[in-house]
Amino acid sequence: MYLTADAAARRAAAIAALDPQAGERVVDIGAGMGFLSREIADRVGATGKVHAIDLAEAMLELARQRCADRSWIDIRQGDATALPLADESVDAALSLQVFEYVPAVDQAIREAQRVLRPGGRLVIVATDWPSILWHSRDPDRMRRVCRAWEGHCAHVTLPRTLDSRLRRAGFAVRKHKVLPQFNPVYAKESFSGHLIGMIERYVAGKDGITAEEAKAWAAEQLQLADEGEYFFCLNQYLWVAERGAADPER
Ligand SMILES: C[S@@+](CC[C@H](N)C(=O)[O-])C[C@H]1O[C@@H](n2cnc3c(N)ncnc32)[C@H](O)[C@@H]1O
Repeated sequence: MYLTADAAARRAAAIAALDPQAGERVVDIGAGMGFLSREIADRVGATGKVHAIDLAEAMLELARQRCADRSWIDIRQGDATALPLADESVDAALSLQVFEYVPAVDQAIREAQRVLRPGGRLVIVATDWPSILWHSRDPDRMRRVCRAWEGHCAHVTLPRTLDSRLRRAGFAVRKHKVLPQFNPVYAKESFSGHLIGMIERYVAGKDGITAEEAKAWAAEQLQLADEGEYFFCLNQYLWVAERGAADPER
């Protein structure tokens, strides 16, 4: 999924919003396999620093391989709610598709605030899972499958409250943007092309959905693709916030 053009476009939007400068120190919160950290490292250069932090050691091992030739990327195990970084030690922080998975999300926002220097920028991209528009000839099954899938995430509608959460934590919100994941035709190597298999595996046996029903749900999407009737759209949202300055608009 991370190699698709959809994922690359989302990373490009996040990095453009962060606008990392040469020599800056940046933390990538929930860095996963290190795709973003590597791209940010190329922007800050060897005089800068990228801290790639993730909870999962298996992800970090892949990040270490991906980032091995960028010595200024510091790859470290850590929790978004207790970042292993000193107060006011970074110029910018970025978190792409992570905060919606953190149960104590307000604590994670406060941690970003703590490690940023005054005036430092925070970029968050989060998914609103119930915003899915996904064509099916069996809308009731589609609804039940999507509802069961929402169980994989701690805050399925996080974008709807992120603005107020950020302001409560003392950030000034500078920008919001919607980043649709729009697949009007099926492609195996697309966001939704990968999502089909992930959802099929996750929902089987949950909320009254049997393995057979999950399989039939996935098969229908391939059939619709064959018949030229595929349609998928999901909204992800991007925030740019600034630490420690009053927002004149609010
Ligand atoms: C959907 S992946 C996104 C990875 C990466 N940001 C990207 O876009 O390529 C979510 C990542 O968040 C990490 N994660 C989840 N909860 C976390 C937490 N509390 N602290 C740090 N990382 C966390 C997971 O291990 C996983 O690597």
